[in-house]
Amino acid sequence: MSSLDKKLIEREERRKQLFQTLHNCDRRTFLKLSGKFAAMAAAAGVIAPHSFQLVEFVHAATTPSATPEVAFRFAYISDTHLFNKGMTHRFAKAAIKAVEDVNALDPQPDFVLFGGDLAQLGQPDELALGQQILKEVKAPLKMMVGEHDWYFDMGDKWKELFGEPIYSWDHQGVHFIVLNSVVEKDFWTARGMTPMERMVTVAGLDNAVQSRFEVGEPQRDWLAKDLAKVDKKAPLVVFSHSPLYKYYHDWNFWTDDAEEVQKLLFPFQKVSVIHGHTHQLLTNHVRTISFHGMLSTAWPWPYAPTGLPKLTVQMDRADPFDQFDGCGDGTVDVRKDGQVNKNYSLWSRNPTTVTYEQLACGKPAPKGPSYYAMRRKRCVPLVLRFSRCCWLQAWV
Ligand SMILES: [Fe+2]
Ligand SMILES: [Fe+2]
Repeated sequence: MSSLDKKLIEREERRKQLFQTLHNCDRRTFLKLSGKFAAMAAAAGVIAPHSFQLVEFVHAATTPSATPEVAFRFAYISDTHLFNKGMTHRFAKAAIKAVEDVNALDPQPDFVLFGGDLAQLGQPDELALGQQILKEVKAPLKMMVGEHDWYFDMGDKWKELFGEPIYSWDHQGVHFIVLNSVVEKDFWTARGMTPMERMVTVAGLDNAVQSRFEVGEPQRDWLAKDLAKVDKKAPLVVFSHSPLYKYYHDWNFWTDDAEEVQKLLFPFQKVSVIHGHTHQLLTNHVRTISFHGMLSTAWPWPYAPTGLPKLTVQMDRADPFDQFDGCGDGTVDVRKDGQVNKNYSLWSRNPTTVTYEQLACGKPAPKGPSYYAMRRKRCVPLVLRFSRCCWLQAWV
């Protein structure tokens, strides 16, 4: 067993004990205790501070503030990229960590959206492993497909496990839509590719063989029909795996028919698009549409060399020695005014919120998320110990 495995098991045991203690408290006592436990737990390295800071954030919304009150909240987990190596693989452990995070939210989110790329190479056992992990989510689960789930068998297994990839529903006056934005034009038949060759090509980031992603005409027709029955004043939240704009062509951080999809959304005054695929803090705003990228639980992509939307609150390069840095999950607050605030729950850094006001004023926040205090505090004694050691050695 590796030292990481041992640490994770040890941390889980201590974490379970901590939650056991908090279990059965009434709400007021829980809130009182959670602050004390958060400090104790962070100091002991039992739990990342954000799990408790999210609780504080929920209740911060009830105190007087400049932003409108939150009507409800949903959570997201995205881009787990599971390999068929079972529960012991580090990506599986990260997915389990995300499920624990959202299950620990109090109050629970109204639903949890999975943002696509559940699997790495669309293998049936990768998808089945993902289903097994996501079954533990307590809140209702909504699924979206990513290209890594699709191109081995063109979605057969995904649909067998999770149903249709394109659907909509209404919740508390908001119309929600899930799209499959990773449709590609056939580049495989003429080349005589096997299913695995097709999958591996699509999974590659920087190749000219595959076509660019698109929503496609049949789905745009479906979307037009779906939107025809929705009041133009109603808020819309659209989920797409790729961003519904053109960010960076060569990595397929791109939707080829983005303008045509946006045109269908423009008649609505309050539209938020939440997308996966880019594995990073990413924010954009086009006319009435706000766009927010979701974090991945598996790895963070660096920012593309060109095309980064100016509203993005940029995160520094992830620490290559910390497998969780730049990864995480998060929540979305749907406000009573129909706009959304996007909350990034990073596993190694302070939680970061992008409010609608930040988009409306058109200026990015000056700084990205910093490492949480516990990490900095740990560094100080280490440096001191090291300096003292060198100093003593110099004397000897
Ligand atoms: Fe992904
Ligand atoms: Fe993707």
